[in-house]
Amino acid sequence: MKMKAAVFASGTGSNFQALLDTDDLTCEISLLVCDQPGAAVIEKASKAGIPIFLFNPKDYDSKEAYEKEILRVLENRGVSWIFLAGYMRIVGSTLLHAYEGKIVNIHPSLLPSFPGKDAIGQAFQAGVETTGVTVHYIDEGIDTGPIIAQEVVEILPTDTQDSLTKRIQQVEHQLYPKVINELLS
Ligand code: GRF
Repeated sequence: MKMKAAVFASGTGSNFQALLDTDDLTCEISLLVCDQPGAAVIEKASKAGIPIFLFNPKDYDSKEAYEKEILRVLENRGVSWIFLAGYMRIVGSTLLHAYEGKIVNIHPSLLPSFPGKDAIGQAFQAGVETTGVTVHYIDEGIDTGPIIAQEVVEILPTDTQDSLTKRIQQVEHQLYPKVINELLS
């Protein structure tokens, strides 16, 4: 039987979709965890029949409280890996301890360059010639955990931020499933 994984996402969900569309993915995406009721990723999960745990952090007293709830859901579903894909929250110690070494993120820059929000815009504004994509383990910092894999994307003189974003996304959608399959093999 395939290992079960949850994707945590707050936004569009193109990486979530790319994982669902990967025929030979060696794990089963068995849950979406989302903190944004209006996010497009929710529609993608509904269409694909993937269960959704939607939560509003404001309904809880603390990060610990909502993460304990998430943890219960993950354990009930037998989830053994967590893949972050545009989850706009820092993962706290409750989940980090329960899933040590089993929480992975994808970030649209060559970390440690351009961590945090709008990494593509940051690289574009900085005028660097290359940026890229990083897949890394999560720790308590923002985009600071151990790097698993990186792929370079060149910034062309003709690029706009939009065209660069499209190429980075294409790389993300190939790299994430590939790295996940390697990790789980
Ligand atoms: C991706 O660029 C990912 O690297 C970053 O957030 C973005 C999510 O995009 N962490 P999407 O929702 O998967 O389209």
